[in-house]
Amino acid sequence: MTCCPPRGAEPFTEKLAARDLRRLRRRGLDATTLALAEAVAPEDGTVLEIGGGIGALHLELLRRGATRATNVELSPAYEGAAATLVEEHGAQERVERRILDFARDAELVEPADVVVLNRVVCCSPDVDGLVGAAAAHTRRVLGLTFPVDAWWTRLAARAMNAGARLIGWEWRFYVHPPSAIAAAAERHGLRRARDGRRRIWCIAVFERT
Ligand SMILES: C[S@@+](CC[C@H](N)C(=O)[O-])C[C@H]1O[C@@H](n2cnc3c(N)ncnc32)[C@H](O)[C@@H]1O
Repeated sequence: MTCCPPRGAEPFTEKLAARDLRRLRRRGLDATTLALAEAVAPEDGTVLEIGGGIGALHLELLRRGATRATNVELSPAYEGAAATLVEEHGAQERVERRILDFARDAELVEPADVVVLNRVVCCSPDVDGLVGAAAAHTRRVLGLTFPVDAWWTRLAARAMNAGARLIGWEWRFYVHPPSAIAAAAERHGLRRARDGRRRIWCIAVFERT
């Protein structure tokens, strides 16, 4: 199967999905994904992952005790690699994968106990819309990773976005202030429970009060 990512998701191709799958098999979960899985740590309940790519994070959350997972993804290019991975984990009955733009069509998606966005907020210009909709969908916990707000990540964003503009992509990389991310979550009744930082990625976990 070959399929093209839609406008705004141009980098997320079948080639990238195949690379993600090879990396996962060779090295296991990357440190940021593992840290987010540990930080949200569901012992039961349902998971909604937004922009989960090949699905490594929600499969890890199922392994740790979550009962079911739904993945909502903008790019259809991950579906082949994701299906292989779901089968390898014997999780066909517990994972639902949907192709849609969560920032636009969140009302088509059921709420879940735990909602996660791993390296997804940096793909959206609308932090309020995306994080707000994610926050509104969690019954218990919202966990996110997003780039550290620093001069060198903003510089990298400018360079990547100049390249993207040059080749005609709509996709852009955004470094949002952590305060804007927190405000979007808090407006929906969540409060900051834990946070952490790796080299490039911040981790923030919010809980429903
Ligand atoms: C940088 S990738 C991260 C993939 C995966 N979470 C990971 O950490 O390996 C960002 C993903 O978010 C998806 N995405 C971005 N905006 C989205 C939206 N509004 N709704 C659904 N998926 C979205 C993209 O298609 C892409 O797969």
